[in-house]
Amino acid sequence: MSTPVPEVLVAAYETPPEQAALKHQWIHQASWRELVERRGLRVFERGEGIYIYDVHGRRYIDAIAGLLVVNIGHGRAEIAEVAAEQLRKLAYVSAASYTSVPAAELAARIAELTPGDLERVFFCSGGSEAVETAIKIAKQVQLLRGFPKRYKIIARRGGYHGATYGAMSLTSNRAELEPPFGPFMPGVFHIPTVDHYRNDFGLNGPEGDLMAARYLEQEIKFQGPETVAAFIGEPISTAAGCHVPSPEYWHEVRRICDRYGVLLIMDEVINGWGRTGKLFAAEHFGVTPDIMTMAKGLSSGYAPIAAAVARPSVYGEFQQQERRLAHLLTFGGHAVACAIALKNIEIMLRERLVENAAAMGDYLLAGMKRLVETHPSAGDARGKGLMCALDLVKDKDTKERWLKDSPFSIRLGELLHERGVLVRILGDLLLAPPLVITREQVDELLNIVDDSLTQVEHEFAMR
Ligand SMILES: Cc1ncc(COP(=O)(O)O)c(C=O)c1O
Repeated sequence: MSTPVPEVLVAAYETPPEQAALKHQWIHQASWRELVERRGLRVFERGEGIYIYDVHGRRYIDAIAGLLVVNIGHGRAEIAEVAAEQLRKLAYVSAASYTSVPAAELAARIAELTPGDLERVFFCSGGSEAVETAIKIAKQVQLLRGFPKRYKIIARRGGYHGATYGAMSLTSNRAELEPPFGPFMPGVFHIPTVDHYRNDFGLNGPEGDLMAARYLEQEIKFQGPETVAAFIGEPISTAAGCHVPSPEYWHEVRRICDRYGVLLIMDEVINGWGRTGKLFAAEHFGVTPDIMTMAKGLSSGYAPIAAAVARPSVYGEFQQQERRLAHLLTFGGHAVACAIALKNIEIMLRERLVENAAAMGDYLLAGMKRLVETHPSAGDARGKGLMCALDLVKDKDTKERWLKDSPFSIRLGELLHERGVLVRILGDLLLAPPLVITREQVDELLNIVDDSLTQVEHEFAMR
């Protein structure tokens, strides 16, 4: 039986939506103590550009763009109009056997804009579903190619690919997830990832990256190439700390996958749609995956939509052998979500937001590197485009982390919230605002981070 919320605590929140949320909503990741004792509940009402406003009218800089989602910024009336128009015309057709005008148009647009010959689009509703779809495509296509034993997937340590069972199995924080969710999907193996600050091999730059890539070859040989279906990685991993691989890394990974008949899945759920200063992060490296997943920036969060996109070499097997993918998601290719995504892409290209992400990303990262010079807790700053991480350390020599649930990280989060900035601190302080951010707004954000770091370091006797 759950403990009833004491009225005195509910009463501390004044508005009906806050009280309703406190009593009835299961907010995905917020701890009860955070909500109740630290008054961490925030109910938002409206947004505009990089700012969002809570039910008390307090303004916050959304420095993580929702969850690296709202690329075109909040409060776009154009999107509301397109959504209303599509809702009036047609909201839904069966995803099993039919499609709609906006879904067909969006598939064509995605085929046109994704790198290389990626051209066949399977729609779903969120990033985890896109990853599940990619895994199933990879396993089934290996069977169609005549390799029934290729069921294994190799992923990377530090990676995040979602919360549904298959996607969670690829995610590497297993120690946290084993109880209560293990055993996971069988046949998943994790190899070292790109890390330019705490490198697994004690090597920095391209040399360390190449070691990480060659580890893939070793793992494939160790498992037996005839058992491996696919390798999955984010082109630039957010969860693993925004380290930017050298192009040699991805070229080597592509070569190894081709050599052993292993499919390459690039997970662009966060990276895709402009976040890293290119439309897709794969473009930084000149590598085309066999399957690409995408979600968040595809609609900038104005509707839940995602996709797994495949090359003809993958879809062709299903075509030639007259086989269906054993997979169906009721809300895949939802007509309103597709109409919204089309408008979102139009806005992104018209306003040159990808170019802005590249320019403002450089400016933000330069400011974060200055924080590393002046703050004892700022160990390293890195990233690409508007996806940057500040590594929070206890000691710059040992590089020992302030972990996500450490009192230091919690206090820093509180101070940033008090000063009107929404962030996510997972060992690193992640800064990833909407792609519409201006130079002045980057300065505003950096000043608040600077002040908050100064105060928390003072409170923890670091300065
Ligand atoms: C790289 C990557 N893949 C997949 C997912 C899962 O997406 P979702 O939360 O929409 O299911 C995420 C979520 O952050 C992600 O970062």
